[in-house]
Amino acid sequence: MPQPPELITLHGSFSSVMLELDGAGAPLWRYWGARLESVSHIPLLRATRAAPSFSLDDDVPLSLFPSFGVGWFGPSALLAHRVGADFAQSWTGCVVEWLAPERAVCVTLFDDVARLRVVITLSLDSASDILSINTTLTNMGAAPLDVQHLAAACLPLPNEALRLRHYVGRHNAEFQREEQALGRSGWRRENRRGLTGHGGPCGAVILRDDGGAWGAQLAWSGNATQSIDWSDDGQFIWQLGEWLAPGEVRLAPGESLATPDVLASFSPEGADGIARNFHAAIRGRMIWPGGAMTPRPVHFNTWEGLYFNHDRTTLTELAKVAAEIGAERFVLDDGWFHRRDDDTRGLGDWWPDADQYPDGLAPLAAHVTTLGMGFGLWVEPEMVNPDSDLFRAHPDWALHIAGRPLLTARHQLVLDLTRADVCAHLFGCLDKLLRTLPIRYLKWDHNRDLTCAGTTLGRAAYRAQVLAAYALFDSIRAAHPDIEIEACAGGGGRLDAGIITRTHRFWTSDCIDAVSRLSIQQGFLQFFPPELMGAHIGAAPAHSTGRQQSQDFRAAVALTGHLGVELDLLALGAAERARLAHWIALYKQFRDQLHHGAVYHGAVGDGVSWQAHGPKEARADEDWLLFLYRTSPATQGQAPPVRLPFLNSRVDYVVSPREPVEGEARSYGGAWLMTAGLPLPPMMAECALIYQITRA
Ligand code: GLA
Repeated sequence: MPQPPELITLHGSFSSVMLELDGAGAPLWRYWGARLESVSHIPLLRATRAAPSFSLDDDVPLSLFPSFGVGWFGPSALLAHRVGADFAQSWTGCVVEWLAPERAVCVTLFDDVARLRVVITLSLDSASDILSINTTLTNMGAAPLDVQHLAAACLPLPNEALRLRHYVGRHNAEFQREEQALGRSGWRRENRRGLTGHGGPCGAVILRDDGGAWGAQLAWSGNATQSIDWSDDGQFIWQLGEWLAPGEVRLAPGESLATPDVLASFSPEGADGIARNFHAAIRGRMIWPGGAMTPRPVHFNTWEGLYFNHDRTTLTELAKVAAEIGAERFVLDDGWFHRRDDDTRGLGDWWPDADQYPDGLAPLAAHVTTLGMGFGLWVEPEMVNPDSDLFRAHPDWALHIAGRPLLTARHQLVLDLTRADVCAHLFGCLDKLLRTLPIRYLKWDHNRDLTCAGTTLGRAAYRAQVLAAYALFDSIRAAHPDIEIEACAGGGGRLDAGIITRTHRFWTSDCIDAVSRLSIQQGFLQFFPPELMGAHIGAAPAHSTGRQQSQDFRAAVALTGHLGVELDLLALGAAERARLAHWIALYKQFRDQLHHGAVYHGAVGDGVSWQAHGPKEARADEDWLLFLYRTSPATQGQAPPVRLPFLNSRVDYVVSPREPVEGEARSYGGAWLMTAGLPLPPMMAECALIYQITRA
């Protein structure tokens, strides 16, 4: 039996989405889960649903865009009014158009009473199984409309959605994983810091007992909100969107508010499956110079090796040693510009400090380039120190609210990017640096949260600030299409799918302690692919924690991302430098595989965890790299074997120990490795093993 015309079905490779037309109302959510192999004999919800007792006679099921005030009692996708009027919205017209059959659809809703139009686009990508949703609200009335909330997406989760996995974080401790049962009292996370925050993007993963999972993340670098509410019907409702400050959005007649995209997915393969789908989607959204990602070059970054001590002789020598050990990009971090001797001053004065660089940066950049490395430069354009020429000339350029104090953080203020003159000035500064120096890379930092973020009109400036920052990135990229940019915000404070379409690498965390990094990187990989994960081999003891770890362990942890070295190379002995060069060479050998394939994770137990990087072609069964990490001392006589569920049970494999020393290769059946597991040798605490697994 053909699908009833009321049903709109989108198919991915492993998931399907189904909506049900509901007359003039918003389409109803009918299904989001594992791919429906057949859509025949599907009854309509309206035909099977009995109105619960004590409900409205014409009860209101969950729709794509539920709204408050005319029969819907659940969370509203929209909260808006016109000076108190038109507070209730309901749809009097619905038009559905296919953008691509069974792949993408556009739903337009009209409210002729409250005079609104809402356009929701949904597309389900078959390669990634990512459902992208965004929403645009237009004020069709004659008076301004105040918008308090507009969900980018409102998603259904069935009642068997049991556990919620999400991330919290702070500076030096990004992506701390939290797991909790979903309950009927609901769950809400709001971020009002003005940028993404150290807990990662607004998003989460919902786990079902049978191994299936749903995931979503908002492609946005500012204030955000997400909530999961229980509906009396017996399901959960998951909303994601921007968090709007009071009065932040007032739409003039005819004006629109467009939300960021939500990237959502169902995977039968759990949280790792969701991660792989996110990786595919983000890979598809990246805008690389030249159209495609080149092998991720090994960085040398000056920050933890030098901090503000930009001694020219030291820098010249550092660059030489960096090139010798195999670095391919030299990133001159904070400390190079006018009077920037410490973090109390200089931000805003984007020209080389005359004492440290009497001939400017050109000699150092030429030295770096001659050594065969790309030259990269740290900037923090959105900021200003009160102690700077820029602030003295333009004290009104900092974000502020009249009558409120200027609150500094790390001695700095945020520039008001909603002002065209500020953006033009910043574009001019960056453009001049990029035009006059052989810079191939910017590390673009944002080292504080937004406070007193008011526009010149005294209204909340948060979302306008994000949009203006995006525009500044875009204009720099348009003028200098060959440069790559790293997004950083006190480590990983601005990691999201919104900024990544403007940038090419994230600085994951200022914490380079390898044990801390394992959980931070796992959280990162839940949302973003490994080639975007800045991962450096830092010093021992680690500057952020004081823990002392071997170079091999530090390197084995950093190897799974976009590798860099961030320590004082001149303090290393010849043997340590040689070993570092060895790890860099290993990274170069494997980066093609590390940066294109699927990533799997697991915990073995008793202090051991693993991460596997698959072959370039997704779901093939050869050439895996397996990283094993022991973080705490063993309590058992024998380490538990590691089961490798990603292998193919019909294939035999050769497992070859690669690091820290090459060992004897052994053959195993795939079925054995998947179900009984690979036996592990004894390991010291804070040690790693790397195995190569190939088809026998
Ligand atoms: C932030 C970054 C660091 C470094 C410093 C420089 O904290 O995360 O990597 O660039 O700023 O001030």
